[in-house]
Amino acid sequence: MRTYGVSPAPTDKDASGIPLLQIEGLSKNFGTRKILALDNLKIEQGAAYALTGINGCGKSTLLRILAGLERAKIHHARWQGEPIFFAPYPQTIRRAVVYVHQHPVLFSGSVMHNVGYGLRARGLPRDVIEHEVNMTMRWAGIEHLRLSAIHSLSGGEVQRVALARAKVLRPQLLLLDEPTSNLDGAAREMVIALVATLITEGRSIVMACHDRDLISLPNVQRLKLRDAQLEVRLPKNHHLENNCAPNFEEN
Ligand SMILES: Nc1ncnc2c1ncn2[C@@H]1O[C@H](COP(=O)(O)OP(=O)(O)OP(=O)(O)O)[C@@H](O)[C@H]1O
Ligand SMILES: [Mg+2]
Repeated sequence: MRTYGVSPAPTDKDASGIPLLQIEGLSKNFGTRKILALDNLKIEQGAAYALTGINGCGKSTLLRILAGLERAKIHHARWQGEPIFFAPYPQTIRRAVVYVHQHPVLFSGSVMHNVGYGLRARGLPRDVIEHEVNMTMRWAGIEHLRLSAIHSLSGGEVQRVALARAKVLRPQLLLLDEPTSNLDGAAREMVIALVATLITEGRSIVMACHDRDLISLPNVQRLKLRDAQLEVRLPKNHHLENNCAPNFEEN
């Protein structure tokens, strides 16, 4: 299969049992304020997580740390079993991890230009870019907007362009920051449906969210951030794995 430096879409969960990313001892302070003090964060291959917690508890900060956009103290980290450092953030992981901001900033120019930007930066052949961009715009339901100027888009359309811009890079780890927070009605439902397809195709996803419909999508595990620490909460239909203590409490 031709992949041109873009990792192929996963078709099945990794059978090796090795986590995609494992971090032991992550801490982050802003001034004297402790934001994160995580003993162990494990992101399995092909698993989806909803990162919940009250406003200001550190969800975006954690996603930004995972994306290499924010520094933190990290005792030990492994990517697919190999030890890695987060500072400097490795180039190989920078390519494998994509962060979608809560308020995505798109480049000036057309929708098509935005979706193809990352592939052009990676130097892929023109025909490959055209094919990938067309496929991904179709997936996001934004084909009809291909030549539209970014400033003319609605909030929901901007979010779908941002998701397309991320998906086209076929990230191994997709970090979504409140993908539905500014949306309602049909726009919100379209974004939820897109996230559901990303989960079904077996991407590793961590999404910060408050949206109950996102949290309760099938195969989404819940990570709750409280008092700088993570609690793992399993959905009622989830089989117990990893000796995690189940916690069905709401909020
Ligand atoms: N660069 C910064 N300097 C100082 N404090 C910061 C900085 N970035 C974030 N904070 C603070 O850290 C805390 C965590 O912020 P963060 O944005 O991660 O929270 P959040 O859980 O994503 O909140 P929300 O649900 O509102 O999006 C907040 O109190 C925020 O004000
Ligand atoms: Mg946030």
